[in-house]
Amino acid sequence: MRDWRTVDFFSDAELVEDPYPYFDQLRSECPVVRLENGVVAVTGFDEASDVYLDGEDFSSCNAVIGPFARFPVPLEGEDVTEIIEQHRDQLPMNEHMVTMDPPAHTRERALLMRLITSRRLKENEEFMYRLSDQLLEEFVGDGHCEFIRAYTQPFAMLVVADLLGVPESDHQRFREGFGLMGSTPGKIGSREFAGGDLNPLSWLDDWFTDYVEDRRRHPGRDVLTDLALATYPDGTLPQVTNVVRTATFLFAAGQETTARLLAVALKYLAERPELQDQLRTNKDAIPNFIEEALRIESPVKADFRLTKRKTTVGAVEVAAGTPVMLLNGAANRDPRRFECPAEFRVDRPNSRAHMAFGRGNHTCPGGPLARAEGRVSLERILDRMRHIRLSEEHHGPSGQRRFRYEPTWVLRGLSKLYLEFTPEEASQ
Ligand code: HEM
Repeated sequence: MRDWRTVDFFSDAELVEDPYPYFDQLRSECPVVRLENGVVAVTGFDEASDVYLDGEDFSSCNAVIGPFARFPVPLEGEDVTEIIEQHRDQLPMNEHMVTMDPPAHTRERALLMRLITSRRLKENEEFMYRLSDQLLEEFVGDGHCEFIRAYTQPFAMLVVADLLGVPESDHQRFREGFGLMGSTPGKIGSREFAGGDLNPLSWLDDWFTDYVEDRRRHPGRDVLTDLALATYPDGTLPQVTNVVRTATFLFAAGQETTARLLAVALKYLAERPELQDQLRTNKDAIPNFIEEALRIESPVKADFRLTKRKTTVGAVEVAAGTPVMLLNGAANRDPRRFECPAEFRVDRPNSRAHMAFGRGNHTCPGGPLARAEGRVSLERILDRMRHIRLSEEHHGPSGQRRFRYEPTWVLRGLSKLYLEFTPEEASQ
């Protein structure tokens, strides 16, 4: 491994394949390190948790874009809160709640939580079982698949579509729409955050605008009507654009993250036939298996905050206006928190204590959904696919495996996962 000082997290292609030696090096230097590019990198679990929980000293305005949040004026002075407030609407992604601070964030988040009720999640889970069966039926008879395209992407997308009440008659249209999507933001080596395509889901905004306007004109007894008529806590009706953004951001936040989680879960499973049998006979062990997959390969690799005022992170003093990079994947392998952190242990007692979903005010509201998606998928996959194994043609023989990961510093995710398996008849 090269000297960590010479490595650039935002352009180094080697880190895409395996960022963990770099994370370990940083952490062994100090759990909080100031990098040459001015970013403060946090690899320690407790230190990252403290930052997530501190909304007073840290702003989320750069949560997704990190050091690519460029202000038109310098961030100078002891306290840059006012500068952030004056210019935040010029930053990419400013319209999404993930980059907001209170009070705007509190308001938008409350609106979202009115949509993700426990009743809705329960109905959504029933749909997940049906959808899982449908998708598996499409390819299981072949005995092989590229799992991300065949299963994880359509599954994660249609689960969100159903959560929001998109009629099943429109699901095929959504599948086709997602097939046209551009590249993932945060491309390695790009000088811009999103390569000129800041909103790859703009077509979805148009579709949801139609749904919301239609249900406001003609309310029905469906989930889309609940979405269209949901109010802020003070009883006011949001503008159509705000409802639409809340809805479509769920696709951006819940699609690739969950799709990559399911892929990495299958990768671990395919390498361990004994684990397949163990989970098949004891399905109660599946939830912890999913937690361990979230811990060991956290789909959101880097999350960011901007210091509003001079503060300390761990024992390190940080000036106002500094981008702080929270490396979830590193924090979740902090040996002070997790014993032998690089080992995948299905019965690890504290797997669920990971921070793959963040912490604090912005903690992922889709966590319960993602967990249910993992559990339902694993249950159905283990029922329908036996002797699951990696394709040697695509990934090489045991001991010399090859995998490609998405070339982005935002997410950690396999690009492709080629599986072979023995089909099992669906039980009646
Ligand atoms: C394995 C899957 C997922 C992972 C690892 C994940 C991870 C995260 C993380 C780390 C954050 C915090 C960002 C921050 O504090 O800056 C977040 C926020 C968010 N996630 Fe997820 N997420 C996943 C799935 C989902 C799903 C399925 C949905 C919804 C359908 C969703 C919706 C959101 C939203 C709306 C936010 C912003 C919340 C806010 O700003 O208050 N996520 N997610």
